Amino acid sequence: MNPWNKPKPDEASATATRLDLAQRPRRNRKTEWARRLVRENVLTTNDLIWPLFLAEGEGVRTQVVSMPGVERLSVDEAVKAAVMAAELAIPALALFPNTDPARRDPHGSEALNADNLVCRAIRAIKREVPQIGLIADAALDPYTSHGHDGILHGEEIVNDETVAVLVAQSLNQARAGADVIAPSDMMDGRIAAIREGLDAEGFENVQVMSYAAKYASAFYGPFRDAIGTKAVLAGDKRTYQMDPANSDEALREVALDIEQGADMLIVKPGMPYLDIICRVKETFALPTFAYQVSGEYAMIMAAAQNGWLDGERAMLESLVAFKRAGADGVLTYFAPRVAKKLKEER
Ligand code: PBG
Repeated sequence: MNPWNKPKPDEASATATRLDLAQRPRRNRKTEWARRLVRENVLTTNDLIWPLFLAEGEGVRTQVVSMPGVERLSVDEAVKAAVMAAELAIPALALFPNTDPARRDPHGSEALNADNLVCRAIRAIKREVPQIGLIADAALDPYTSHGHDGILHGEEIVNDETVAVLVAQSLNQARAGADVIAPSDMMDGRIAAIREGLDAEGFENVQVMSYAAKYASAFYGPFRDAIGTKAVLAGDKRTYQMDPANSDEALREVALDIEQGADMLIVKPGMPYLDIICRVKETFALPTFAYQVSGEYAMIMAAAQNGWLDGERAMLESLVAFKRAGADGVLTYFAPRVAKKLKEER
């Protein structure tokens, strides 16, 4: 008993007489059928985008230590993963390569190689599993020797020169068969430039899913392990990714990307930015996706592995929260696990 809260006897009876019990919200929660009946938001397999990490080699699956249950897959293994994803009815995959360090340079030129890891994976998956959506990232960080998303001149990530390379990278991925280009770099003006570049080469049906509001977040740590940029990244990304303290700025970023031709939007990270998802969806009503990033996944998994929380429930609760906030879907490393769970429940 907490002594601070203990009511005095006369106060306690006064409270009881003041209760207005015409409304008892608990009635609608009394049984599972009633809770199901009044449930406002439902997570389905249609809401899931599965981010996959790619590695060189054959038959390779290497554990990402900071993301228990997540592996980097060689192209042949990624094809198997795509087959499984399609069987689970996951609509789309987002591909991220861990580029051989020998192929990284200051300009990220490997991004333009038609035979780079991501392009090979796109072609191989499209051959075997043509019905699954493939989302290719536009950003240079998996390819640069300094781990930044753009081209570095001295201390500066230069904007316009980077955008020109992002257009070429997008075309390279579209030619390999990517269905969607997802620029995650946060350079100014890149959506218009990429749209124009795609249209000029006859890719007017390739969608652009913009990471429109992407914050300079500490929650990307494990992802940088996964694609091998953590050790090399010089400094931070605060001159291009957004300040976590800002909200109106996210609306301005989104407005610009819509003007420039974005078909879909991503807000990233996810759970610490539910307010942004809500504002973006209410203001613009475009398909809006949350990215439940690597650090969010790692937190849930680490706590679950320690027995500190029920991992499965935390996974489901975190995902339905995105739906409640207004997201149309979620990029999540939990995608296959959730899809299996939802399938069992059917
Ligand atoms: C970079 C990129 C990042 C993520 C996706 N694309 C990290 C970063 O900006 O450094 C993070 C995803 C995650 O943490 O799961 N283009």
